[in-house]
Amino acid sequence: MPSYRRLGKLPPKRHIILPNGENSFLNEGLYYEHIITTHGFDRAYSILYHLRPPTRVLETASAGQIPIEAADDRELRHHHFKTQDLPRGGQPVTGRVPMLFNDDLVAWRCKPDQPQEELFRNGAADEVIFIQQGSGYLETLYGKVPYRRGDYVVVPRSTTYRIVSDDIQKEDHLILECFAPVRVPDRYHNPDGQIYLGAPLYERDFHSPEELCLIDREEPTSILIKVHQNLTRVTMTHHPFDVVGWDGFLYPYTFNAWDFEPLTGTVHLPPPFQQTFECRGFVICTFAPRHLDHHPQAVKVPYVHSNVEADEVLFYVDGEFGSRRGVDLGSMTLHPGGIPHGPHPGTIMKSMEMDRTNEMAVMFDTDRRLHPTVQAMQVDDPSYPKSWL
Ligand SMILES: [Fe+2]
Repeated sequence: MPSYRRLGKLPPKRHIILPNGENSFLNEGLYYEHIITTHGFDRAYSILYHLRPPTRVLETASAGQIPIEAADDRELRHHHFKTQDLPRGGQPVTGRVPMLFNDDLVAWRCKPDQPQEELFRNGAADEVIFIQQGSGYLETLYGKVPYRRGDYVVVPRSTTYRIVSDDIQKEDHLILECFAPVRVPDRYHNPDGQIYLGAPLYERDFHSPEELCLIDREEPTSILIKVHQNLTRVTMTHHPFDVVGWDGFLYPYTFNAWDFEPLTGTVHLPPPFQQTFECRGFVICTFAPRHLDHHPQAVKVPYVHSNVEADEVLFYVDGEFGSRRGVDLGSMTLHPGGIPHGPHPGTIMKSMEMDRTNEMAVMFDTDRRLHPTVQAMQVDDPSYPKSWL
């Protein structure tokens, strides 16, 4: 997490009584403390204070599965998934369509057409919801998280939330379900924990909840909880958004891709310079609009390269793509390790005349092989592997 944050009512020390007068739950005179930890008790945590104990479960019931069905991918080749052609449908969480997966993540696309009715919690994974289109806010246990186009909305595992859109018909998301905590790279931080001057992002670019979503309601309220493929409906005796205050390093936040401050060199700088987040088994990078390289003979598109220990995915967000032909906004390309890829023919010499690029793309590079799903293959462009001819 970027840094320590606090919001609302807190006692002066952790794990001491926070008094709540005579009208408190069961007249106990207390707010109820709740600590949410990561990696056991060894990494980031937050401490929250509730009106009612957060353990009051009325009932639990299995709510089915969201199976991930792998396509036959024995043939090693490049892919262009035209995810912009996926039909609009469903709700913001339950309408997600799986595209690519391995043991470290599942990448989903979602273009909902109905509002999210039920509260949701991912019990096994952090989520990075990239807002390709749309605006609104997430109602969360920690408070309100406004979002807009270009935001990475980072939701730590176990955060109960609901997406409230300004216009559901305009929402378009790329979701990375991450089976280990998502972090800003350690190398961007100085030994005092602050982001270095010269890093491509800064503390002020990270937006945490600034307003609580306090709901004081003793009424059965269900939460749909996802743990890998399994869904469980847990009904609480009360609305779980009864938090009056919290502090710590664990909370949902946004970072806007257009706030990334890209570096440019005399010649091309490789993707580690664009890294935005890290996670077990993969990194997330932002290719933001930037000045191009300024050596007089600089090749201003990336190297042709063999990514022998990574599968690379590019999601095309905005602008014109100097190194690619035939991709559109919402396209997703997969360049697996084992075969080289690079700029399309004609793009190298064309790039020599350019000073800037307005392209915006999100990339995720994985250590382990990524598998396309059956749904991804339905929008796969079979001509893409020969597009370098
Ligand atoms: Fe590449």
